[in-house]
Formats: sequence, C-alpha cells, structure tokens
Amino acid sequence: MKKTSIYKPDDLKQKAVQETIKQTVLSGGTIVFPTETVYGIGAHALNEKGIQNIYAVKGRPSDNPLIMHIANKDDIEPYVYLDQPYVSKLMDAFWPGPLTLVFRKKPVVPKSITGGLDTVGLRLPVHPIAQAVLTIAGVPLCAPSANVSGRPSSTLFEHVLEDFNHKVDVIVDGGKSDVGIESTVLDVTQSHPVILRPGVITKTMLETVVPGVQLSTELHHHDTPKSPGMKYKHYAPKAVLSVVEGDDAEVIVFINEQIALHKAANQTVGVIAPEECIDALHTPHVFNIGKKDNETTIASNLFIALRTMDQWEVDAIYTFSFIHTKYQEAIMNRLLKAANNRIIKL
Ligand code: TXA
Ligand code: MG
Repeated sequence: MKKTSIYKPDDLKQKAVQETIKQTVLSGGTIVFPTETVYGIGAHALNEKGIQNIYAVKGRPSDNPLIMHIANKDDIEPYVYLDQPYVSKLMDAFWPGPLTLVFRKKPVVPKSITGGLDTVGLRLPVHPIAQAVLTIAGVPLCAPSANVSGRPSSTLFEHVLEDFNHKVDVIVDGGKSDVGIESTVLDVTQSHPVILRPGVITKTMLETVVPGVQLSTELHHHDTPKSPGMKYKHYAPKAVLSVVEGDDAEVIVFINEQIALHKAANQTVGVIAPEECIDALHTPHVFNIGKKDNETTIASNLFIALRTMDQWEVDAIYTFSFIHTKYQEAIMNRLLKAANNRIIKL
C-alpha cells in the first residue's frame, strides 16, 4: 500500500511541502489537486513514467487522451501550433478558466498523453490551488478528472479519498470544486471552433467572442467519437440510472409508481430531484440537487448526487431531466452518459 501525503491549502506555503510536491512530480509520481471544475489527478506531462502512472491508477484506456494543464498563457508556445487567428481571442476571454483548447501539437508533446492523436488539449485552470500546484511543479501536468475510470468525477475531497487514498503520492484537500462539471473541450484546429465536450463555458458565451461555434455532431450521435473519451462508459453510479423527461407532475407520478414497484420487491429507489419536487416523492432517498432555475447549483451538485446514490446503496436511480437551463448541454451530456442513454420520455 502506498503512503499518500495529504495537504491542506495552507501547507502549500511551506518550503518543505513545495519541495516534496516538486520532487514527486519530477520523479513521475501522482498528485491529486482541486480545480474549479472537478479534482484532477496530475503527473508530469512530459515524463513517460508519470503518464503511465496516471493511466494505471485511473484504470483508463490508453487511447483516451489527457489534458495538459499549464500555469501561464505564455507556457503554450513550446507545445502547440496556433493555427487559427481566433484562438488568442478565446484565450483572452476565457483563460484562466474552465475551457480546454485542442490544438495541433508540437513534437515535444508525447503521443502517450494524446492517445496517439496529433492534437493536444491545453487548460489553464483558475483555481488558486491548481495554479499553486502547477507553479510549484514548474512543468505542465497532464490531469484527467480524479475518478477511477467509469465512475463519477470527484468534486469533493471525500470522493477523491474513496478512489485514490493509498494509490497516489499526494492529495491536496481543497474542499468542494465549485463548477462541478468538467471543462468545455473546444477544437481550435479548424476554421470554426467545435465543441467536443460541453461545459459551463457555453456555445452562446463562446460566440460572443468568435462567431460560428459548432457543437460536435458526435455529441448527439454516439458512434464514431472525435473526442475519444466520448466512447467509454462514464460517470456511472452502481445502480441503474434512468433519466425521466416530462412535466414535473407527470415525472413525480411516474417515479412514485417505480418506487412502489421496487418496494414490493424489497428494493430501494434513489431519486435526483429539483428542490421544488422533493416533498412529493415517496422515498427517503431523495437528493435535492437545487432549485430548478439555479443551474449553477445543479451543475455543482451533479456528481455529488451520483456518488451519494452509491453511498445510499439504492437498487435503482431515477433523475429528473434538466433541460431548461443555460447549462443544459453540459448537464444532460453527463447525465445521459451516466444513464448509458436510458431516457424515459413521458
Ligand atoms: O475540467 C477538466 O477538464 C478536468 C480538470 C481536472 O481539469 N479534466 C478532465 O480530464 O475532465 P478528463 O481526462 O477526464 O477528460 C478529458 C476529455 C476526454 O473526453 C478526452 O477524450 C478529451 O477531453 N480530450 C483530451 N484531449 C483531446 C484531444 N486531443 N482531442 C480530442 N479530445 C480530447
Ligand atoms: Mg473524466
């Protein structure tokens, strides 16, 4: 069993801790740290041992590329080609922040982090602890979401511990990751930017800076994904999850029927519901995800809701759908993946 050093944000100010983190990274070790979106599990992005450790500890398929995290805008120059003139506008508007830009890579970026692709995703996080870790490391960190492959991403320190205590070298406890959903992934290799993974930097927001942003067609057709991560099982809680779509009143009736059916078979049902509906549901296992019009709260609670269902050990999960919010692309993308596209339209 590996010894995992756990630090609080203030510990990062100590020289000895900084030295431990730096040496860990330079020698190919692994460090979990908070970002504004979700926790990341990081390693030296140019060090083969570090990269392989990430794939191994996460149990991640090696053709699913990792995002390279950097501390400053100027750091991108050695790694990527800025093919499109609009890219600098996007970086000025949204970096640092929850936007990953996919560029054509320069040869120094190892193909082992790009899953064999000629492109690499770069991200400059805004979270002060993520920035501190990147600055201390002094090298770019490849950092996928800190969850065992297939499980919901971690947005709480407790969830990181569940997946990675005694498996990584360092964990930094940064409390809750506010955004709660991973960064928007945007392909900037073509004449128009293409959203490969929706996030809280929405198409509408991107279009205030660069017109003509497209949503990858693969987001709605699941056969031949351009973003390799889209083809794998994702975010799955242990019990079968179904998304129920319809008027609130209909959804409540339907879910209560399911609760009764499961109860007759001695099974429990977990429900992810907006605050306005929780009192009408006939199970103690209701997760209040936030008010219907509060998309920021809904996004930030989404992965917590899925992991809570696992803690409650329910036998089946039903969730309301959240299709009238600014973040609906991002939220429904994660929910439908978690549900393996199981959607019940009433
Ligand atoms: O918010 C985030 O992006 C978090 C935090 C930790 O920064 N990271 C994250 O990484 O979500 P990960 O590895 O869980 O998801 C990366 C996604 C995957 O869907 C992957 O396929 C896609 O980005 N991706 C990475 N590099 C790519 C590339 N070169 N071309 C297309 N898609 C890429
Ligand atoms: Mg992930």
